[in-house]
Amino acid sequence: MKNRLSRIIKPKDNRTVMLAVDHGYFMGPTTGLENLGKTVIPLLPYADSLMLTRGALRRYIPPETDTPIVLRISGGTSIVGKELLHEGIITSMKEAIRLNVAGVAFSILIGADFERDTLLGLAKVVDEAEEYGIPVVAVTAVGRDMNKDAKYLSLASRMAAEFGAHIVKTYYCENFERVVDTCPVPIVIAGGKKIDEKDALEMTYNAIQAGAAGVDMGRNIFQSSNPVGMIKAIRAIVHEGATPKEAYEIFKEEPLVEVRSE
Ligand code: 5RP
Repeated sequence: MKNRLSRIIKPKDNRTVMLAVDHGYFMGPTTGLENLGKTVIPLLPYADSLMLTRGALRRYIPPETDTPIVLRISGGTSIVGKELLHEGIITSMKEAIRLNVAGVAFSILIGADFERDTLLGLAKVVDEAEEYGIPVVAVTAVGRDMNKDAKYLSLASRMAAEFGAHIVKTYYCENFERVVDTCPVPIVIAGGKKIDEKDALEMTYNAIQAGAAGVDMGRNIFQSSNPVGMIKAIRAIVHEGATPKEAYEIFKEEPLVEVRSE
């Protein structure tokens, strides 16, 4: 367990830049990930781990890649379905082990009618993962009509940790210290919908200042006008103590290499 956790959260500073490219499991061919491999492979040297589904791993990522994998193992609903993120287990622990993953990720949706199903799913995944020493990243998903505030996110994050998650992925919010301080396991933030690069860097900086262990970020990296520049800038904040201004300079100075597929 500790060995795998150390592959995700780097022991030298207890921080991490996780690159999330799992969106296709409920969003289909998300902008920037139409050809996932083409977008992601140039980003791998700057990612401490890669979060994706088994199908994407199998089809887009060469098996020689040594970036630690955090395997998305929950799903079952889509953005066009009636019940967003009413997820169950979509990949077995046996398959996760076969794929040599560093961790698995499972989403819960607290406050939804079906919260119990997602929580019992998390409990089952933690039980199975503990048996083989595999860390579980619990993702505190948020429904469209829910408040992404400190009250809600600290409730969801703490519950995830109490259920046995080893890392919690949640959203940044005002008073984020409250979310971090009341959660006994490391917290990483999702980026959410694409926002201006400057704002995404500011949000990352604020999250780190509040005590986050890092990011598990997707769209604000791979949908950026310069994904390599953006992941390098995020890295500088997470691992090197850069300010948002310094990080933005890193982003701006990165030569643009076209990596996306049409
Ligand atoms: C859904 C998820 C996403 O699939 C993804 O990992 C989120 O990353 P971002 O918001 O940074 O694009 O976790 O709940």
